[in-house]
Amino acid sequence: MQNGNNFEIEEHAQTYYIQTFGCQMNERDTEILAGMLEQLSYSPSASIEKADIILINTCCIREKAESKALSQIGELKKFKNNNPHLIIGVCGCMAQQEEKAKEIMRSLPYVDFILGTHNIHELPDVVKKIWAEKQNYVLVWDQEKEIIENLPYKNKFSYKALVNITYGCNNFCTYCIVPYVRGRERSRQSEYILKEIRDMVNDGVVEIMLLGQNVNSYGKDFTEIEYDFSDLISDINEIEGLKRIRYMTSHPRDFNLKLIKTIAKCEKVCQHFHLPVQAGSDKILAKMNRGYTQETYLKLVDNIRKFNPNATITTDIIVGFPGETDEDFLETLNLVKKVKFDSAYTFVYSPRKGTPAANFPDQIPLAIKKERLQTLNQIINEHSREKSEQYLNKVYEVLVEGHSKNNDQMLSGRTESAKNVIFSGDDELIGKIVPVLITEAQTWILKGELQ
Ligand code: SAH
Ligand code: SF4
Ligand code: F3S
Repeated sequence: MQNGNNFEIEEHAQTYYIQTFGCQMNERDTEILAGMLEQLSYSPSASIEKADIILINTCCIREKAESKALSQIGELKKFKNNNPHLIIGVCGCMAQQEEKAKEIMRSLPYVDFILGTHNIHELPDVVKKIWAEKQNYVLVWDQEKEIIENLPYKNKFSYKALVNITYGCNNFCTYCIVPYVRGRERSRQSEYILKEIRDMVNDGVVEIMLLGQNVNSYGKDFTEIEYDFSDLISDINEIEGLKRIRYMTSHPRDFNLKLIKTIAKCEKVCQHFHLPVQAGSDKILAKMNRGYTQETYLKLVDNIRKFNPNATITTDIIVGFPGETDEDFLETLNLVKKVKFDSAYTFVYSPRKGTPAANFPDQIPLAIKKERLQTLNQIINEHSREKSEQYLNKVYEVLVEGHSKNNDQMLSGRTESAKNVIFSGDDELIGKIVPVLITEAQTWILKGELQ
């Protein structure tokens, strides 16, 4: 390494450990951070304790996510005491908030650097500067710049991969911090996306997950060509060797008929629709700035089911948004009963400083929020169980992802509908798509037998 003062850095193979909080955007950023560290000759560390560089890739979507990340950073102090050469970096969405970045540097001075979400490509420079000067760095651009292509990456899995198609978000849902920490929406040029996927497929990837905060607004920012999400998935569908295309997340407001028909026609696109509804009451949906009503959402679900009869539909729901009355909450329950989601991520509203809803009147007491969450979850779980039972005694194509978390003698995989299936089989099946007969249905998992 270029600096003669850094003898101890070269003395043994340097290792890294990255702890990731939050969504797939962060997971993908972690793969890019890992790729850059490996270019600097770091290799993965088996444990956080032994690593020479630790990165905490943070999330701030809800207060809990932020406090988890902060307490993890707090834990690192003892590692630094044991190993003064340890480099500690904080990145991700929490780090992008100026106030939080300052607070971390002030109260946790053993953190060597902070990288905002728009600055991750600067990791190699920052690490080299720390080797040379042993200084602390805060690199947080307050605004996004042009997309930086061709960064290295180290994918976590050999058979499935995450692929960014848009960055940022322009929707400004009133509860959400993402537009403030991920910047304005920018679409990647399709050539880069297609090339990245082809490269991954050549390396053995069979399933890709296209990532964006609102994938179906892909291409809206192109000024010279007309090319949208439907066009993109049609082109990706042609890539030989690729077996499954997933995408996350789509916004109900922008899910048009062209897209529904394209998905029906593209055989590689999974018939799994994750359509965050957030609430059932039109009053709350308007206050959230979601841009649809219960009626238009239900119409969308009907259309999806009409063109894609095997569609599984999942969602995100927030309870206890400011001003949500019992009647409003009942509207959420009504909607849930009408749609019967296959599963749902449900959340208690968490005020995020800097977002409009944090200052709305009529904030709901935590006890009521929790009660509503419980009522909602009970209904959703019943539906999930019912939906699971529909899989019984049928054979499904399952992409084998590894060993079951609860029983490492068993394999675990996913159907096209993203349902988790546990069955017994050889390790060599990992990464392959195999037929499995479903013999037992639980709420969240299915058990089966390899055919
Ligand atoms: N871009 C995606 C989701 C981003 S965040 C979309 O629009 O659907 C994932 C989920 O977190 C959201 O769908 C929402 O249900 C939840 N969420 C976001 N902000 C929240 C907040 N302040 N409190 C509670 N849940 C929140
Ligand atoms: Fe947040 Fe709304 Fe953007 Fe999703 S669409 S990231 S919920 S602002
Ligand atoms: Fe969290 Fe940032 Fe994702 S706030 S949910 S990691 S975009």
